[in-house]
Amino acid sequence: MEEIAQQPSENRIAVIGGDGIGPEVVEAGIRVLEAATEGDGTSALTFTRFPWGCEYYLEHGRMMPEDGLETLAGFDAIYLGAVGWPTVPDHISLWGLLLPIRRGFDQYVNLRPARLLRGIESPLARPGSLDVTVVRENTEGEYSDSGGRMYRGTPHEVVIQESVFTRRGVERIVRYAYEEAGRRRGGLVGATKSNGISITMPFFDEVFREVGEEYPDVEASLMHADALAARLVLDPERFDVIVGSNLLGDILSEVTAAASGAIGIAPSGNLNPEREYPSLFEPIHGSAPDIAGEGVANPAGAIWAGAMMLEQVGRPEAGKLVLAALEEAISGGAKTRDLSGSTTTKEVTEVVIDHLRKR
Ligand code: IPM
Ligand code: MN
Repeated sequence: MEEIAQQPSENRIAVIGGDGIGPEVVEAGIRVLEAATEGDGTSALTFTRFPWGCEYYLEHGRMMPEDGLETLAGFDAIYLGAVGWPTVPDHISLWGLLLPIRRGFDQYVNLRPARLLRGIESPLARPGSLDVTVVRENTEGEYSDSGGRMYRGTPHEVVIQESVFTRRGVERIVRYAYEEAGRRRGGLVGATKSNGISITMPFFDEVFREVGEEYPDVEASLMHADALAARLVLDPERFDVIVGSNLLGDILSEVTAAASGAIGIAPSGNLNPEREYPSLFEPIHGSAPDIAGEGVANPAGAIWAGAMMLEQVGRPEAGKLVLAALEEAISGGAKTRDLSGSTTTKEVTEVVIDHLRKR
């Protein structure tokens, strides 16, 4: 019997532009996603914007409304720009918006691909050679609110913040990474630091090896994160998939992003693989207050994140088209300032859309 692909009647996307250059790059992304899906005879993408972020905080005393998560739960995916602005301490803005979404929606995989696109010069890698994905744990680890401060402000002040590693949490992220390596070139490196962090990291290593027994075809090894960071600088081409805890994955994914030419290009997907909750897609870069509002931000990271989002909502073909159009635009010279070009955000977006329409 022939299988008929199920097309949902529409894909509902919640949009949180957030702060700084966030809204600029997300609006660029939305235009591209609309162009990629228009007239393809399938379902519509609808975008619903939420004005949450630091401005909202200064007005309402919260980064998002109390029922923010309940509101977002009704969407198929979340498209986010950036969070953070100098007038609000970072730990307040991030723990009031992005981090509660990652945890509340159990988005335990933070998938961060980095590839050297045509037309971009890497400080490290040869053209066409860098293609690595960081699988970052996204809900526990070092990003924990377990801890406290005693004897505040006194000379014997004590400050403790505990890392939380659960068997379920480590197993599921490591398993996702083995699967991802199997879908790619079959190489996996586990980022550890079990030489210095003597309780949680040896546990991570143990689980990494245990799960690995189920994946004999994946060539897996563990590397201490400091040595791994150095290896990524010296020889980034050698890596396929890297899996790491929340903090190690955060840092290493910024190294891989930079190795691909500029962090303005790199995307990320905060995934709830079981699809119990919506996943969230965002560029890796931050809100860049120094260039906010100037119209010069690189929209590539947001556009690429949008391509990942299309894939996740069941439109992988459209996602591939978007990434291909982005690469063509950049290799044709549509480069913002961070790529040593002078093309504006809007112009880059236009060029990407032109390439899409040509297909
Ligand atoms: C990222 C960011 C966030 C993180 C910050 C802003 C909390 O650096 O998405 O990589 O560390 O997760
Ligand atoms: Mn980061």
